[in-house]
Amino acid sequence: MCGIVGYIGKQNTKEILINGLKELEYRGYDSAGIAVLQDNKLDTFKATGKIKNLEEKLSNSTLNTQQLMPNIGIGHTRWATHGKPTELNAHPHLGEYSCVVHNGIIENYKDLKEELENVGYKFVSQTDTEIIVHLFEFYFDKNNNAKKAFIQTIKRLEGAYSILLITKKEPNKIFFIKHGSPLAIAKGNNDGEVLFASSDAPLIGLANDVVYLDDDICGIADENGIDFFNAIDSKPLTPTFETLPNSKQSAQKNGHRFFMEKEIYEQSDVVVESMLGRVNDENILFDEIDKGITDNINEIKICACGTSYHAGLTASYLFERLSKIRCSIEIASEFRYKEPLLTKDTLFVAISQSGETADTLEALKMAKNAGLKTLVVCNVDNSSMTRIADFTILTRAGIEKGVASTKAFSTQTVVLWMMALYFAKQKNVISNDVLKKEILTLKKVPDSLKVENKIHEKCVRLSKRYLHGHGFFFIGRDVFFPLALEGALKLKEISYLHAEGYPAGEMKHGPIALADPELFTIALMPQHLHYEKIKSNVEELSARDSTICAISPLDFELADDFIKTKKTDHYMLEFFEMLIALQLLSMEISIRLGNDVDMPRNLAKSVTVE
Ligand code: AGP
Ligand code: GLU
Repeated sequence: MCGIVGYIGKQNTKEILINGLKELEYRGYDSAGIAVLQDNKLDTFKATGKIKNLEEKLSNSTLNTQQLMPNIGIGHTRWATHGKPTELNAHPHLGEYSCVVHNGIIENYKDLKEELENVGYKFVSQTDTEIIVHLFEFYFDKNNNAKKAFIQTIKRLEGAYSILLITKKEPNKIFFIKHGSPLAIAKGNNDGEVLFASSDAPLIGLANDVVYLDDDICGIADENGIDFFNAIDSKPLTPTFETLPNSKQSAQKNGHRFFMEKEIYEQSDVVVESMLGRVNDENILFDEIDKGITDNINEIKICACGTSYHAGLTASYLFERLSKIRCSIEIASEFRYKEPLLTKDTLFVAISQSGETADTLEALKMAKNAGLKTLVVCNVDNSSMTRIADFTILTRAGIEKGVASTKAFSTQTVVLWMMALYFAKQKNVISNDVLKKEILTLKKVPDSLKVENKIHEKCVRLSKRYLHGHGFFFIGRDVFFPLALEGALKLKEISYLHAEGYPAGEMKHGPIALADPELFTIALMPQHLHYEKIKSNVEELSARDSTICAISPLDFELADDFIKTKKTDHYMLEFFEMLIALQLLSMEISIRLGNDVDMPRNLAKSVTVE
């Protein structure tokens, strides 16, 4: 998730690009940069950290971009996936006479980089993006035709990419492609103006007519207009322009009411990024970790807080079931002071969306000081934890604005599931057939995370009654127990109602004493994992008048309320189907209570204190 902007016109290009990048800050960034091409001179400016650092650099430059002649510019806010958030890795990336900005991941960048290095191209960054500009110039130098070179370049790319490219060889044009990552193009309010942006917020006020590009639409824009064509067969296209929304605030939320709602809805897309370049038909690939990472490892110890702890607890089942490695899980604030027994045959896995949570960070330091191999699953590169751990696997969820974690949890769980399969292969405890089946299932996760209208509408209806609940139990078995914990946490943190997650089999050991019609039990009843067991647990509660809301793909006649999820062929797909229902139910109850869904009382997005 990052931001791209582009401009062709006679207004102040620097200003338009910077203001556009500021409107995209909500998409997350760790560095930013712009390039301006005028009078056949290509100037680039880059900075790490806040956009204002880039703005300061620009204010110190003498570059005047208010010209009579149209000039062109492109800009980028980066959310690093390949290469640390440094100025060198910030976009735009330069060739000899061109430069490029890119949102997404080039899965086959290593092969292309090697191919280009073998014919003498030199790389200065660690990014995947840099191969794009050198590949373009490789083809341009061969056939002296920018359009052909651009098409040949994009035909070689695999992965997700929205790209803007400018070149001195065609100094008044911007070349663009949309594939997997978002890109919009708009006709500016002034004659001959064309604007680009990853979302419509930067365009509002500068343009009225916009095209939200579909995959594999590419083209060339200049002050005379825009030529659209299909990236696959080069056939000309005439996409339909539509009117831009007039609210920037709603644009940043993609028209949703809250960032949390936007982030629930975008889980299906972001888990695709979490898997990009890491999954093929036969294998899981993690370039970021040594192949021998599990050598001499007899235990995995996971450590985290809050939602990240729930992802870790889910993974603990998968590491033992799939990787056949003993796995323990710790709440970081407990771990720090329990005088833990740490042995060097343990792989210490810290999980953190922010990479800054004080308790998890200190726990990681304890493990590091005890000489354990350390790995962090994190959403923010260059955070404190990624700088300490021996290995980092980024979840690539993009910025999560809602304090209540949603897409952080789903991307963490997907990455940890992939790790369990990766370790299983390394330890040779999984057959190729089983691995292929698991990979086929992994690839269905984005579909399981797609929000179904009927599920959302049901959650709205249920919220009418549930906002009066004086207490909630969320119950599940196996990986549905940590999911129950996560559902309870979501409800607590944004609706302020009391809720507990519980292992379903434990209810009869005391908690069932609370059963009465005002006590709502949300029962997670997957078809493919201990269904009969969970069914009898729920029957015990129902027999004692607890009000049951069953979430299941199977009908359950004893349920007072029912959220029917899609039938799937694997319990982990049921897991993600139910996650969406839990997130939406909590959000709709919170909305009905009039709470601040994105910034609930007493909470912070990252707890950097003990
Ligand atoms: C979850 O919705 C909360 N935002 C909170 O529990 C969070 O998961 C916890 O503070 C850990 O944060 P981290 O993932 O950034 O380490
Ligand atoms: N993969 C590219 C990089 O790491 C682009 C990341 C993004 O979309 O910001 O630079």
